Amino acid sequence: MAELSLPFETKYFPIKKYFDVYRRSMEENEEFWAEQARNLDWFRPWDKVLEWDPPWANWFAGGLLNASYNCVDRHTKNWRRSKVAIYWEGEPGDVRVLSYSTLFSEVNRFASVLKKCGIGKGDKVALYLPMIPELPIFMLACARIGAPHTVIFSGFSAQALADRVNDVEAKLLVTADGGFRRGKILPLKPISDEALEKCPSVEKSIVVRRANVQVNMKERRDFWLHDLLEEAEPYVEPEPVESNHPLYVLYTSGTTGKPKGIVHGTGGYLVHNYATYGWVFDLKEESVYWCSADVGWVTGHSSIVYAPLAHGAAIVLYEGAPDYPSIDRWWEIIEKYGVTIFYTSPTAIRMFMGHGEEWPKKHDLSSLELLGSVGEAINPEAWLWYYKHIGNERCPIVDTWWQTETGGIMISPAPGIELVPLKPGSATFPLPGVDADIFDEDGNPVPTGERGLLVIKRPWPGMLVGVYGDPERYKKSYWSRFPGCYFTGDYAVRDSDGYFWLLGRADEILKIAGHRIGTAELEDAAVSHPQVAEAAVVGKPDPIKGETIVMFVRLKEGVTPSPELKKELANHMRSTVGPIAVPEDIDFVTSLPKTRSGKIMRRVLKAVASGLSVGDLTTLEDEASVEEVIKSFQELKKAKEQEK
Ligand code: PRX
Repeated sequence: MAELSLPFETKYFPIKKYFDVYRRSMEENEEFWAEQARNLDWFRPWDKVLEWDPPWANWFAGGLLNASYNCVDRHTKNWRRSKVAIYWEGEPGDVRVLSYSTLFSEVNRFASVLKKCGIGKGDKVALYLPMIPELPIFMLACARIGAPHTVIFSGFSAQALADRVNDVEAKLLVTADGGFRRGKILPLKPISDEALEKCPSVEKSIVVRRANVQVNMKERRDFWLHDLLEEAEPYVEPEPVESNHPLYVLYTSGTTGKPKGIVHGTGGYLVHNYATYGWVFDLKEESVYWCSADVGWVTGHSSIVYAPLAHGAAIVLYEGAPDYPSIDRWWEIIEKYGVTIFYTSPTAIRMFMGHGEEWPKKHDLSSLELLGSVGEAINPEAWLWYYKHIGNERCPIVDTWWQTETGGIMISPAPGIELVPLKPGSATFPLPGVDADIFDEDGNPVPTGERGLLVIKRPWPGMLVGVYGDPERYKKSYWSRFPGCYFTGDYAVRDSDGYFWLLGRADEILKIAGHRIGTAELEDAAVSHPQVAEAAVVGKPDPIKGETIVMFVRLKEGVTPSPELKKELANHMRSTVGPIAVPEDIDFVTSLPKTRSGKIMRRVLKAVASGLSVGDLTTLEDEASVEEVIKSFQELKKAKEQEK
């Protein structure tokens, strides 16, 4: 076989094993993934590793399996049945420890509850819960009976919850009487009540008692979980599902106002996550693994629930805020449970950096062996602080690049194969099986050192199987920019050693504290306020959150701008989308800068929001003249200064 030359191979470091595995994964791609798939338990083996009818993929076609069987049952058949699966800590300090055998019995009982509520294969179940053990248990119980789950982040408002529940046509909503966050109680049940007024598909709602607060229970619709569990069967046969059967739908932001339901299948998704988790986190049987993300995001799905549990790992789950009741809560948790692998976001690291190293210093963090970062690019300064003050200069940092759509990690160091020399701020190389490249606007690979668009040139098992109810959007968003290639929407560059550096989004999607939110979604929420005529949202660089929201608003004729109106608008964003949608700045303007064809000149707005000068407006929107741009810029800047 001819030697395959990799576009990103480095000549400068003695990296051997990784490139050998990677090269093989490209040359014998399907056999390579089939080998990974054999690490899972299948009820029926696949007939074909990949059926690829671009852009539709069916990984492990013909195979039958069950995700809950792979994450739970199989560990109860050996010594792992008494191994800890979940160390859970609530914000008030309450603790629950679940072994794999306890997890097994809970998942079965919850699955029985779901069945008795009339849920069967293919029915969608919405989960709007705090970070309590019931959340992963319900996810696995849904998977057990073949009912796709939709987890809705507990920070979302009633409207955002209703939009997602309606889009996915959920039959059942699971919520709680409340959850703890920064010493307060998240009013999940009242929010659910408000949402359910607008959700005709939901027949029943199960309520978990967590906060012990008084809530309204609607007769014949709402049921306490503890009451239902009294009647539950101890065992429910896991439903063998086809490999592409939807395991879950998870909503994320795109470039239009409507969030998209990313659908993940079962077989491909689990294979990808099982394999990449082992490579990236270099898991050992005795590892104690903590991913601090919220289960409401993809990181929570893949990196808290499915990947580690499929491996039979011991995970830590923490309910509350990172700095509550004091700044060292996380470091206290690491010390208490002897966490060996810790995975978090750059925003969190920058936040802790701001509080100073005296907080982690109060704790013995010597159990740590490996650190991870996810969700946004990590700046070298934060990387080095994390390395020095959390990892004590002993622990490698895996900077993992991936997306809701990719289902699992795609570009990252892989110490489970071979630890490559790390460079702070670079996610290093694509994982085996991931055919990544960087293209220019015309679809040609960019030369070394030049910025371009990150693409994936062949299907991979964790890839989304579609956008819920919208096949056209799936094709258009991901597969039409460069035919045959998956378009990530991210800028990237490769350095002269072949390392990948991720440079942020190339589209109108913001990353606020690592949370993904589309400007169109925020603008739609703003114009739903009766006094707003037009709104434009841009991101402004922020030293901790990476980016914050700046909103330019043109009010309706006759409405006078005022500080009260600003407050009201901020509250409106909170109640329409959730706290993550509250802008850092709201600027009232009399007109928004636009091109002749009516497109908002975001570059101008971004420059104004970021306090840059005209000279920074180097690349202009196509159809706008330089004078137009400069005039708009100066007008906006003047208005902003006057306001101050
Ligand atoms: O821009 C990239 C950024 O997060 C986006 C995906 O967001 P989401 O679907 O919410 O998933 C986040 C968690 C997997 C990407 O398009 N991103 C994610 N990880 C990194 C990153 N940017 C730079 N470096 C990373 N490690």
